[in-house]
Amino acid sequence: MTTSTFHRATETVEFLRLKLPPQLSRPRVAIICGSGLGGLADTISGSAERVEWAYKDVPNFPVSTVAGHEGKLIFGTMGEGAKKVPVVLLVGRAHFYEGHEMPTVTFTTRVCKLLGVETMILTNAAGGLNPEYAVGDIVCLNDHLNLAGLVGFHPLRGPNEEEFGTRFPPLSDAYDIRLRQLAHRSWTDLRRQQPSERRMHEGVYAFVAGPTYETRAECRMLRSLGADVVGMSTVPEIVVARHCGMRVVAFSLVTNKAVLEPTVRADAMELQGLTPQQLDEYLSRGRASHEEVLEAGRQAAVDMQGLVLRIVSEL
Ligand code: 6GU
Repeated sequence: MTTSTFHRATETVEFLRLKLPPQLSRPRVAIICGSGLGGLADTISGSAERVEWAYKDVPNFPVSTVAGHEGKLIFGTMGEGAKKVPVVLLVGRAHFYEGHEMPTVTFTTRVCKLLGVETMILTNAAGGLNPEYAVGDIVCLNDHLNLAGLVGFHPLRGPNEEEFGTRFPPLSDAYDIRLRQLAHRSWTDLRRQQPSERRMHEGVYAFVAGPTYETRAECRMLRSLGADVVGMSTVPEIVVARHCGMRVVAFSLVTNKAVLEPTVRADAMELQGLTPQQLDEYLSRGRASHEEVLEAGRQAAVDMQGLVLRIVSEL
């Protein structure tokens, strides 16, 4: 199959436009929701101004296979009165670790571009590498390490699709500074209304292919490379969004702390004489689990939604 993604994305947009009412068919903002962060769908105005599809019913859309990543495409409006903005929500994404190729992972981003989207807001669940971060904190991304991309798993590999952008796009200013300023202002306003322990930081996201969580040595490596959080999504979409000139702002929810303690040595003094149960308990400290990731998402989802809603209504 040599059909370009431009051709296939055009096909998808034509399908969607046939069924969308005019006031929803040109969303200004696209929001891609990460693991357990799909609650944003509820902040979209009532059913009169809302049209949704399961990914499996949208031509050319990838179907995700992970628990907690149900695929739904929702068109609607966010905000009230003069601040009402037409948006498209993508709840669930295709991940590279599922076996999708990079052009499949980023296909939905290109559909957003052809729909007329100018600004993409992305959220994800990530492991915290910066020791200052607590579980439940939010990180506004200001840069990334595209580790999979640097070794060849890059969404723009292959003939350049000129309809979308140039061959060698710069990424030195990928994370829009004005949107980040807006994010900080929005967060401050939100905190004033609803004080909480949760903090918002700015930091660097390391994109890894997954699906395993990192070893202790890998966590130390990523930290020493300058990463603040690590995760298995978002960067491919951001690269493709920047290639076609959309503005992006992205947030990680710190769902667990990546293990920065040294690798456990089997000959360590403190391990001698532990019962098998005590040894298991020792090793489980800081071990990442998918359940833990989803649970932190549930608790922080409300704050994340409030933040995104505020940003959208100020765009
Ligand atoms: Cl610790 N690592 C990766 N790669 N992705 C994550 C994560 C950790 N926690 C949530 N998502």
